[in-house]
Amino acid sequence: MTHPFRTVIIAAAAALVLAGAPATAPLALRAPAKSGGKSLRECLAVRHSTRQFAPDPLPAGALDQILWAADGINRDDGKRRTHPSAFECYPVALHVVERTRISRYDPAAHALVPHAAAPGAPADLRAAALGPSSFTEAPAVLVLTVDLDAFPEKAAAAMRPVWAHAECGAIGQNVYLACADLGLGTVFAAAGSPEKIARTLGLAASETPAYVMPIGTPR
Ligand SMILES: Cc1cc2nc3c(=O)[nH]c(=O)nc-3n(C[C@H](O)[C@H](O)[C@H](O)COP(=O)(O)O)c2cc1C
Repeated sequence: MTHPFRTVIIAAAAALVLAGAPATAPLALRAPAKSGGKSLRECLAVRHSTRQFAPDPLPAGALDQILWAADGINRDDGKRRTHPSAFECYPVALHVVERTRISRYDPAAHALVPHAAAPGAPADLRAAALGPSSFTEAPAVLVLTVDLDAFPEKAAAAMRPVWAHAECGAIGQNVYLACADLGLGTVFAAAGSPEKIARTLGLAASETPAYVMPIGTPR
């Protein structure tokens, strides 16, 4: 069942699109379940990479849970998250590419912020971002981007990419475990052309695509 609050926000966003305004109204996500599901041991026992996906939409609430598991706030300070971060500067962002929408996960609001639709956007944004790939059959593709400017001045420049990519790994494993919990498939992949992904997502110059993680029902 669709969460009523989400329905209202989706309806508001749809109204904006119909009115010709860019679809940038945030979409609130369902509050994540923090208990229940498979045990950590069970998830570890079945974690594996999936590279072929059925085109079925994700079950209601699945993306909401996966994004929180990946990068969500898990403490009362409203800042620290489900994964560790050097200097707590969180240089990795998660973008969700669906067929006709690209959005960015906002951990503080636990919401998806749609990117403004580019004029003449391609019919399938997943294919535009990744090129020919079985990953584009997945209903959603996560793109992990790295912003080395997020580090504080004192962080050694040579270590920033190392620390940021370590954080990508922690986020990636969170996604794998959340997918294992929900019976969905994913793979942590350094796939696609970073330039093409950056262009399709309209990334700021400081943000570099690092990994993609398609998410869907294994085929
Ligand atoms: C840094 C990194 C990059 C990877 N890049 C790709 C990739 O580009 N394409 C792909 O299909 N799998 C990629 N993988 C997934 C590995 O191929 C996969 O984890 C490995 O085959 C072991 O399989 P498993 O995950 O099912 O245990 C990558 C994994 C890591 C850690």
